[in-house]
Amino acid sequence: MHPVPVVKAFFDPATWTVSYVVYAEPGGHCAIVDAVLDYDPKSGRTSTTSADQIADYVRAQQLTVQWLLETHAHADHLSAAHYLRGILGGKIAIGAPITHVQKVFKSIFHLEDSFAPDGSQFDHLLHDGEVIAVGPLSLRALSVPGHTPACMAYQVEDAVFVGDTLFMPDVGTARCDFPGGDPHTLYQSVQRLLSLPDTTRLFMCHDYPPAGRSAQWETTVAEQKAANIHVHKGVTEAEFVAMRQARDATLAMPNLILPAVQVNIRAGALPPPEANGVAYLKIPLNAL
Ligand SMILES: [Fe+2]
Repeated sequence: MHPVPVVKAFFDPATWTVSYVVYAEPGGHCAIVDAVLDYDPKSGRTSTTSADQIADYVRAQQLTVQWLLETHAHADHLSAAHYLRGILGGKIAIGAPITHVQKVFKSIFHLEDSFAPDGSQFDHLLHDGEVIAVGPLSLRALSVPGHTPACMAYQVEDAVFVGDTLFMPDVGTARCDFPGGDPHTLYQSVQRLLSLPDTTRLFMCHDYPPAGRSAQWETTVAEQKAANIHVHKGVTEAEFVAMRQARDATLAMPNLILPAVQVNIRAGALPPPEANGVAYLKIPLNAL
């Protein structure tokens, strides 16, 4: 018998992001997936209200944090992995192809020479199929590129954290127009997820609920195959790519892409402070 993981979700209404704590039982080990660092773009101020809710839960369940996992370098929120590691411990991990994302954005942001695009800002780089332990649970990294080249889904027994691949069936799929994104690749990644057993629980990284329904983040492989508006069973790769390209052409950049990416490729650490002790984010003009 494999243990059934407990999955606790935290929905952030400011960025529509869902963060998770996954574990076997109270008092044991856990992994935290895609934690959010609050950021107010008007003031340039970060805060930890959302992350502290996760930390409070971890403490209340008497959990020891083994892993702080990122499904990818998010463009819509800043990661709280660095902050949470500081107060709770654990190792920060992301997909190994993050190095490609770091190279692209080191150039776009003209980052300091000492920023090494080698993944060294993270404690561990995960490769496709790699299995790590979360207490008695086995967590497998599944490479699911397409939204970004470094996207990973994380499979823990019967639960999969899908990152930005699938959204809830009535919302569809993630955009593929960021650097290194590709709708053909995303289609194949989605097929990989939909080839898992029908009862597999799928946990979304975001929800953008249509008018009239509240935010949701859990579905199953069977529900996605039956009803996903972009990739239900029967949709061909060519049909999906045409839909995705047409839709992506209409989408504005996410509000927080510029602050988020330059923090998230540092594993959620802020840039090094300048001589006056203040850390600055950059806005590249006419570059994106
Ligand atoms: Fe994303």
